[in-house]
Amino acid sequence: MPYFIVYVILHYKMSQMKDPKRYTITAALPYTNGPIHIGHLAGVYVPADIYARYLRLQNKDVLFVCGSDEHGVPITIKAKKEGVTPQDIVDKYHEMIKTSFDEFGIDLDYYGRTTSEIHHQTASDFFRKLNENNKFVEQTTEQLFDEEANQFLADRFVTGTCPKCGHEEAYGDQCEKCGTSLNATDLINPKSAITGNTPSLKTTKHWFLPLDQYDDFLREWILKEHKEDWKSNVYGQCKSWIDEGLRPRAVTRDLDWGIPVPVDGAEGKVLYVWFDAPIGYISATKEWAEKNDKNWEDYWKKNDTKLLHFIGKDNIVFHCIIFPSMLKAEGSFILPDNVPANEFLNLEGQKLSTSKNWAVWLHEYLEEFPDQQDVLRYVLTANAPETKDNDFTWSDFQARNNNELVAIYGNFINRVSVLTHKYYDGRIPEAGNYEEIDEKVLEEIKLFPERIGESIERYRFREAQQRLMELARLGNKYLADEEPWKQFKTNPERTKTILFVALQISTALAVLSEPFLPYTSKKLKQILNFETLAIDLNWSNISNFDVLLPTNHNLNKTELLFSKIEDQQIEKQLDKLKANKKENEAENAQLEPQKEEIGFEDFSKLDIRTGTVVQAEKMPKAKKLLVLKVDIGLETRTIVSGIAEHYTAEEILGKQVSVIINLKPIKLRGTLSEGMILMTEDKGGKLVFVNPDAKTPNGMGIA
Ligand code: 2FM
Ligand code: ZN
Repeated sequence: MPYFIVYVILHYKMSQMKDPKRYTITAALPYTNGPIHIGHLAGVYVPADIYARYLRLQNKDVLFVCGSDEHGVPITIKAKKEGVTPQDIVDKYHEMIKTSFDEFGIDLDYYGRTTSEIHHQTASDFFRKLNENNKFVEQTTEQLFDEEANQFLADRFVTGTCPKCGHEEAYGDQCEKCGTSLNATDLINPKSAITGNTPSLKTTKHWFLPLDQYDDFLREWILKEHKEDWKSNVYGQCKSWIDEGLRPRAVTRDLDWGIPVPVDGAEGKVLYVWFDAPIGYISATKEWAEKNDKNWEDYWKKNDTKLLHFIGKDNIVFHCIIFPSMLKAEGSFILPDNVPANEFLNLEGQKLSTSKNWAVWLHEYLEEFPDQQDVLRYVLTANAPETKDNDFTWSDFQARNNNELVAIYGNFINRVSVLTHKYYDGRIPEAGNYEEIDEKVLEEIKLFPERIGESIERYRFREAQQRLMELARLGNKYLADEEPWKQFKTNPERTKTILFVALQISTALAVLSEPFLPYTSKKLKQILNFETLAIDLNWSNISNFDVLLPTNHNLNKTELLFSKIEDQQIEKQLDKLKANKKENEAENAQLEPQKEEIGFEDFSKLDIRTGTVVQAEKMPKAKKLLVLKVDIGLETRTIVSGIAEHYTAEEILGKQVSVIINLKPIKLRGTLSEGMILMTEDKGGKLVFVNPDAKTPNGMGIA
């Protein structure tokens, strides 16, 4: 083997912690300013959950924590918009997010929140310790200020052009397009998100973490020690920040929502949300330890603990540069062993967006696809944005469900369990002599735990799931080749052997699916009646046994693991997205400016009356036009109206309307139109009638 390959392999092995005694797995604390969507699940929570479940299936000591990130500007902005308090907002979304995690099987040991007392205490102590040890630089500098709102502008309170990539909607702390972490004063053409005004500059004092002093440490720790084992997207971002030169970063803010800065002379100031949020992992650990009689420090301070942060790419700088520098400054904590960040997931070719309602919300998904959490988990993992941004499309969702989960996995299990019930009353038959193919398959089953595990340990969850599906494919192919349903009459002994072998594959599948498809795994274990097995099968031991499901073991009644998703279900989802988009466009549409002022005499020239549609029919060969007869009290008029794309003739028959009756008649497609019906548009762009809100006699004047 060439020398450099040996070197790379050795170095890779050395940089990864060998046999950790315990694992602390964190998943990014979601901001509590909205529910969570598929992008969150795909980028952070499903991969973290797969990893944690995989370790637990090997009986490892695992702590998997997360919690609500309840401070920060987005929450304040949302509260202002809705006319409620920030606490109201975080209470609402904390519950909602927690429920979504439960529903999708994100098996956290603890879900905390950063408004908890322990968190406030922990973050304050952390700050105080750094302050006492002179780890901060106090500086009075000019910061952006909104005179009208009487408020300093930092973070999401201010947008402007990113000095690095030119993106025009960069925030005061970060550009989401290129990922650069910014100071608000770096923005070109800054604009207040509160009033839209251009901010002025005002002096204020803040505490800065001098990241420039951590340059040597970060170079050594990331650029040297983790060159081989961190994902290239993560390593690349870190390298470019370090190479650009790190600058001191303010860790306090002039805001009234957050953790008060716990030192004298800091009235009206709170900790920067990115200072307190990652400490939330530690607070969550403390709360969990208190409830479970554990020592939290084991999970954060012992060198034989492997710490892993699962995050999205916009969080890389905070978890790889800022938080580790904070931990280093504090001095008693371990550093993350890896930060397996993902790129972004798009939806139908467009960036997912909470504010634009361009998302598949988890709580809404379950309304449409009840009990189908695993389908979404499966598709999100199959398409995980592990190395580049990726796209979720509803047609791919349908195809993966129908062609993979139903046609391969579900079909295999259904055949095995139905045939076992049909031929043997649900009792596992005794295998006769194995043929070569049987022996090959039984040996191959044993390779899967390591094969799949190896991908998981390299944070390649897509590959891991593909490898899992190879096991289902192996089973499906084995049955298709051996055709027990054909053999049953002529060769009953052979049939027993085939089903016995197929049942062993099913058993391995039940165990190995758990990290990816926890609900399916549970159902399958129920069908296979794991409860009465003498051994507790898990990831580490299934390769040790020649027989996983013994002869004479009884199956429970069978049920379908997956069901086909029909075209209409997919169309409904696409229509919903289209409607959201239209609604969003209408909300953001520029309203026409006011027209020139008129006197009452001008207005009174208009004769607007109530009327009722007494006849309606489609204008032949005109897509948009209906020909109406409208009773306006004085007489019945013919009116040609451009509403045929919004209403059928039947729908508007009998409807009361408001009509301008003294508009000069005009001919439309050869029919004289003697009036105009008043209409406006709803949020989705549909024309709607402007009519009296109670039934009125026809011909009444409107003024
Ligand atoms: O990007 C976000 O949603 C942040 N709330 C993540 C915080 S992760 C951690 F450090 F708390
Ligand atoms: Zn940028």
